[in-house]
Amino acid sequence: MGMFKDILKSDESLFKNSVVLDYDYMPKIMKYREGEQQQMASCIKPLFQKRNGRNLFIYGKPGIGKTLACKNVLKELEQESDEIFPIYINCWQKNTSFKILIEICSLLGYKLTHNKKTCELFNIVKGILNKKSVIFVFDEADKLDDFDFLYSILEEIYRKSIFLINNDSSWLSEIEDRIKSRLMPEMLEFRPYDGIETDGIIRERIEYAFFENVWQEEAIELAVEKTFELGDIRSGLYLLREAGNAAEDRSSRKITLDDVKKALDKLPEFSSKKTNELDEDKKFILEIIKKNSGEKIGEIYKAYQEANGKAVYKTFQRKIAKLEKDNFISTEKITGGKEGKTTIISIKNITKKITDF
Ligand SMILES: Nc1ncnc2c1ncn2[C@@H]1O[C@H](COP(=O)(O)OP(=O)(O)OP(=O)(O)O)[C@@H](O)[C@H]1O
Ligand SMILES: [Mg+2]
Repeated sequence: MGMFKDILKSDESLFKNSVVLDYDYMPKIMKYREGEQQQMASCIKPLFQKRNGRNLFIYGKPGIGKTLACKNVLKELEQESDEIFPIYINCWQKNTSFKILIEICSLLGYKLTHNKKTCELFNIVKGILNKKSVIFVFDEADKLDDFDFLYSILEEIYRKSIFLINNDSSWLSEIEDRIKSRLMPEMLEFRPYDGIETDGIIRERIEYAFFENVWQEEAIELAVEKTFELGDIRSGLYLLREAGNAAEDRSSRKITLDDVKKALDKLPEFSSKKTNELDEDKKFILEIIKKNSGEKIGEIYKAYQEANGKAVYKTFQRKIAKLEKDNFISTEKITGGKEGKTTIISIKNITKKITDF
C-alpha cells in the first residue's frame, strides 16, 4: 500500500550538506554582484602598479551580500598577488584602535604584542605593511568606538585602499573632518536583491544544501517570497534550515508549505540572537519594547521605570537611538494628540548573524 514510503528513516537526512546554509559559507561564484565587485577591484588596481589605491565607502541594508562580495574580492586578490596584504576586520568584535592593531598583528603573524601600547603596535604594523601594499576592509564600521587607527593608517601607510562597510551612508557625515578629508572615499551602494535574484540565490542554496526533490515547489516559492519581503538573504537561509528541520522532526521526506510556515513562526527567535551582543540595560529596554511594541516613547519609558529601570529619560532616549541605529527597533515621529510631537517605537524583525559572533 506504500503507507510508509514517505517516512524518513532514523539514519536518513534531507540535508545533503547543511554547511552551505551557514551565514559565513562562501559560494564559489557570487552572482548578481559583478558590478559591485568590479568597482571594488578598480579601487585596488593602482596598488598593483605600486601606486596608492582608492578608498571606498560601501553601504546597504543587512543581509544583501556586502561582506560576501568584499571577501570574494580579497580571496581573488590573494590568488593574484603576494605584493598586497589583505586585511579584513569586523569592527563589531574589534571596535577600538587597540583591538584592531592587535588583530592586524595577528593577521600578519606578529606575536610579541604583550604589554605593548597602541602606538607601539602601530609602529610595528607600519614597519611591516609599508614594505608592500595593503587593502584594509573595516566591516560594520559603525560599531567602532574610536577612529585613531584610521587616522594613523591614512597618514602613515603609504600604499593602501581602505574599504569601510556600513548599513547606511549617514555614518560618514558623523566622522571627524580630519579623517573625512583624508579618506575621500568613492561611494558604493548595494541595493537589495530583486525578486528574480532572490529566487536565484535561494534555489541555488537549496540545490547545494538538500537532496534532490525534497522541496515541494510551493514551499520553495513561499521561502523565496518571504526572503524577498524581508529583503535579507540571511533570514532566507535561516528559513531553509528551519523548514528542513521541521520536516525532519515529523520524519517527512518532503519539505512542505507547512514546514516553511513553521520556520516563519521561528523568525523572531532568530532575530533576538543578536541581543547577546548588547549591554544588560539595552537588553532590558529591548525586552520592554518587545512587550510594548508600537507604543509611544513616554509609555515605554513608564513601563521601563515600573519594571525598575534606572536610567534617567535622557539616557533612556540615547539608548533608544542606539538600538535604532543598530537596527533592533524602528521609530516614527508623529504629531497630534495631547503631547504634540511624540515618537512611536516598534520592534524590528532583525535577522543578524548567529554565527558571526
Ligand atoms: N549573491 C549572493 N549569492 C549567494 N549568496 C549570497 C549572495 N548575497 C548574499 N548571500 C548570502 O547572504 C548572507 C548575507 O550576506 P552578507 O553577510 O554578505 O550580508 P551583508 O550585506 O554583509 O549584511 P550585514 O550588513 O548584516 O553585515 C550570506 O550568508 C551570504 O552568503
Ligand atoms: Mg556584513
